[in-house]
Amino acid sequence: MIVVANRLPFVLKQNENGTLSRQSSAGGLVTAMAPIVCDSDGIWVGWAAIPIEPGQEIPEGNPDSSIPGERLKRSQIRPVNIDVDVFDEYYNGCCNTAFWPMFHSMPDRAVFKRENWKSYSLVNRQFAEETARAVSSCDTTKPLLVWIHDYHLTLVPGHLRQMADEGGLRRFKIAFFLHIPFPSWDIFRLFPWDDEILIGMLGCDLIGFHVEGYAENFLECCQKRLGLVVDRERKLVQHDGRTVVVQAFPIGVPFKQFEEMAKCADAETVDPSLKLVLGVDRLDYTKGIIHRVRGFEKLLDTYPEHRESVVLLQVAVPSRTDVQEYQELKDELDREIGRINGRFSTTRWSPIRYIYRFMKQEELCAFYRDASVALVTPIRDGMNLVAKEFVACQMKEPGVLILSPFTGAGETMHEALLVNPLEETGLADTIHRALTMPLDERELRMSALRRRERTYDVHKWVQSFLCATGTVENDDRDSHLESLTIEHFEKWLACYVDDSSKLVLLLDYDGTLAPIAQHPDEAHLPKDTRSVLEHLTEMPDVYVAVISGRSISNVKAMVGISGITYAGNHGLDIEHPDGTTFIHPDQAKFKTLIGGLKMELERDVCKEGAWVENKGVILTYHYRNVQMDKRLALTDQATAIILQHGFRPCKGHCAIEARPPIHWDKGRACIHVLRTTFGVDWSERVRIIYVGDDATDEDAMQALCGMAVTFRVTNSSNVVTAASHRLNNTRCVYMLLQWVEQYFEKRNLRCRKFSRPTISPIADLIDAGSL
Ligand code: ADP
Ligand code: G6P
Repeated sequence: MIVVANRLPFVLKQNENGTLSRQSSAGGLVTAMAPIVCDSDGIWVGWAAIPIEPGQEIPEGNPDSSIPGERLKRSQIRPVNIDVDVFDEYYNGCCNTAFWPMFHSMPDRAVFKRENWKSYSLVNRQFAEETARAVSSCDTTKPLLVWIHDYHLTLVPGHLRQMADEGGLRRFKIAFFLHIPFPSWDIFRLFPWDDEILIGMLGCDLIGFHVEGYAENFLECCQKRLGLVVDRERKLVQHDGRTVVVQAFPIGVPFKQFEEMAKCADAETVDPSLKLVLGVDRLDYTKGIIHRVRGFEKLLDTYPEHRESVVLLQVAVPSRTDVQEYQELKDELDREIGRINGRFSTTRWSPIRYIYRFMKQEELCAFYRDASVALVTPIRDGMNLVAKEFVACQMKEPGVLILSPFTGAGETMHEALLVNPLEETGLADTIHRALTMPLDERELRMSALRRRERTYDVHKWVQSFLCATGTVENDDRDSHLESLTIEHFEKWLACYVDDSSKLVLLLDYDGTLAPIAQHPDEAHLPKDTRSVLEHLTEMPDVYVAVISGRSISNVKAMVGISGITYAGNHGLDIEHPDGTTFIHPDQAKFKTLIGGLKMELERDVCKEGAWVENKGVILTYHYRNVQMDKRLALTDQATAIILQHGFRPCKGHCAIEARPPIHWDKGRACIHVLRTTFGVDWSERVRIIYVGDDATDEDAMQALCGMAVTFRVTNSSNVVTAASHRLNNTRCVYMLLQWVEQYFEKRNLRCRKFSRPTISPIADLIDAGSL
C-alpha cells in the first residue's frame, strides 16, 4: 500500500548542526493512518514541513517509539519537496482558507484566490509524480493500492489515472478517503473550481467518506455539477467509461492501544476532590471551543453548586498558526479563559485549566481516563477521534461523553449526551446532567459506547476499506413510504429485534394504549389492543411493562392482565408479576403532606368542573371540563398552591400534577425495571421498545436514547421529542403491537423448524440408550 497524504506523520526540524530531526504531529488523519503504514510496511508520500537540501537525510525511525510516526522506517518515507512560496499558497491559501471552511459548511470564512488554486494544482501534480515514482519502485508481483487522503490532494487521483492510462505504469488501484465532511450541493457549488475537484476525485476506483450523508452529498454534486449518471441507491457514478464506487466507512481508533496506554499512564492527573471536565482539540474554529468555555461559564452561573468542585481542562494543540483566523481564535480563547477565571477563581480554585501544546498520547490518555465528562462539541467535524479515544480510555468509574450531533461520531455514538454546541444554556444544562448522572446510567451508556468502539476500531475500518477496493457489496435501501403501514415497523424494527434476544415492551397507558377520555375512569383499553397484549404477555421472549402516571392499583385495574410489570405514579411504585415490589423510599414523608395540599386545592380551585384525583403520593388537578376562558386563572392559582406546599407542578393533558420533588422519573424507573429483571448488563441481552405520548415519557426516551427504539404518540409536528419515531395515535400503537406479535410468531416458527422437537430430559436419556 502507498499512502499519499499532505503531511508525513511527523514534521522535520532543522537542527543547529544542519541535521534533521522528527517532531510528532497531531490530527485525525495521522492518528489513524500512521499505525497502519507502520504495520503493513507500506510507503508514505507526504510533505516534510521544510525543504530537504540535496545530501540531507531524513533521520531513521526509532523502532521502540510508542509514536507510530517516529517508528516509520526511512525507506518507507517519500518526502515531496515543495517550493516554500508555492507551499504557502497551496496549504495556507487554498487548503486552509478555501477547502477547510467550505467543506465544514462555513463559506463566510472562505477566501478564493486564483493564484492559490494554481499552486494547489501544481502541488497536486508534484504529489502525483512522486507517487508514480513510488508505484514504479514496488514489487510488481503483488497487488498494489494507492490510497490518497484528504482535501489537500483531490486532484491527485485524476493525475495518476491519466499517467496509468497513458501507459508506463503497472496496474494498481486508486482509492481516496476524505477525513472531513463533504458539504451539500448548496455550499459546494460556491467553490469556483468545483468541477475540477469532482473530476479529480473521480479518477479513483473507490471514494470513501466517514458517513452516509457526506457520500450522498458527493453523489448529488456529481449529478448536478457534471451531469453524470449516478445510481444513488447503490452509490455508483459513471465517469469516463468507468464505474466509481462511493461508500461510507466510519473510522475508529486503535481501541486496545488506547486502553493499554490508559492502564499504564500516570496514576493521578487531577486533584481527586475535583471532577474533571475535559476538552481536547486542535485549536480550530470548527471545534466550538469558544462556545464551550462560555457554556461552562453558564454552568457556573446557573448551577453554583459546581463551583470549587469541578474544573474544565482544555487541552489545545497549536494548529495552522500562519493563518489569521487561527491566530485570532487563539487570542480570543486566551481572553475568554482569562475573563472567566478572573470572574470565578477563588484563593484555592480556578475553573479553567488551559494547556496549549502538543501532548504525548500517554499524557492525553491519563486525562481521558480520569475525566468525569468529555466535552466534544465541534460546530462541524468529519468524525472526531477524541470522542472515541476518550471512550477507549474510560476504564475506571465511567464518566459521560457529551457530543455534538454535527460530528460524524454523533451519528453512531448514540449513548453519548447529544447537545447543540452553539446554544450555551443547553450546553450548561447538559454538563450539569452529566455531572449529576447516576452511576447505573453512566455504566450503561459507557459500556455500550465501549462495546461499539472496541468492535469498530481502526483495524476494522482499514479492513473494510481494503475489502471494498476489491469487491464492493452495495446496500439495497428501502424507498420512502408515505403513510404508516405495518411495513414501516418492519423497516424500523426488523434489523433491531434480532433472532435471539428477548424483547421488552415498555408502554405508557393513557394516550398510548388507551385513547384519552373526558375522565380517567373512561379511558378504557380497546378490546383488540387488550387481546394482542394478552397474547404478547404469554410469549416467552416478550416481556411487557406498563409504566403509568396513574396509581399502581388503578393502572392494574384498567389493564387487567396478569404477567405484566406495572409501574404507577411515574415509577415511584413498581410491581412485578411475581409479586415483588419497589416503593421509592423518599415518598413516605410526602404522603403525610398530601392531605393539606388536597384540601387547599379542593377549597380554592375545584370550581367550574375542575377536580382533584388523589394517587397516594401524587395529586392530579384535572381541568378538562372547565371552559376555555376560565382555565388560565384557575391553573395559575393551582400551580401557586402546589408550589407553596413544596410539590412540583407538572403539566399533563388538561391536568396539572403535583409531584413530590423526588429525583425519580419514568426514565429512572425503566432502568430500575430492566436492571432488576435482566441484570446489570441488560442492554446486552434484551432489545427494548418504549412507547409514550406525554412529556413524562420523554424522561424515559432520553434515558433510553441509543439503547432502545422509542416512539412518541403525537399528531402534532410542533412537539419536540427525543423519540426515534412518531406515531399519530393509539391505533398506530396497536399496529406496532401487531407487528411484534407477528414477528415473534414467525420467529418461534423459524426456531422450531431448526431445532429438534422438544422432549423431556428423561426421554432424552432413554433415546440415547443410557437408561
Ligand atoms: P482533527 O482531525 O480535526 O484534528 P480529531 O478529533 O479527529 O480532529 O483528531 C484529533 C487527533 O489529534 C486525536 O487523535 C487527538 O488525540 C490528537 N490531539 C488533539 N489534541 C492534542 C494535543 N494537545 N496533543 C497531541 N495530540 C492531540
Ligand atoms: C484534520 C485533517 C488532516 C490534517 C489535520 C491537522 O485531521 O483531516 O488532513 O492533517 O486536521 O491539520 P494540519 O493542517 O496541521 O495538517
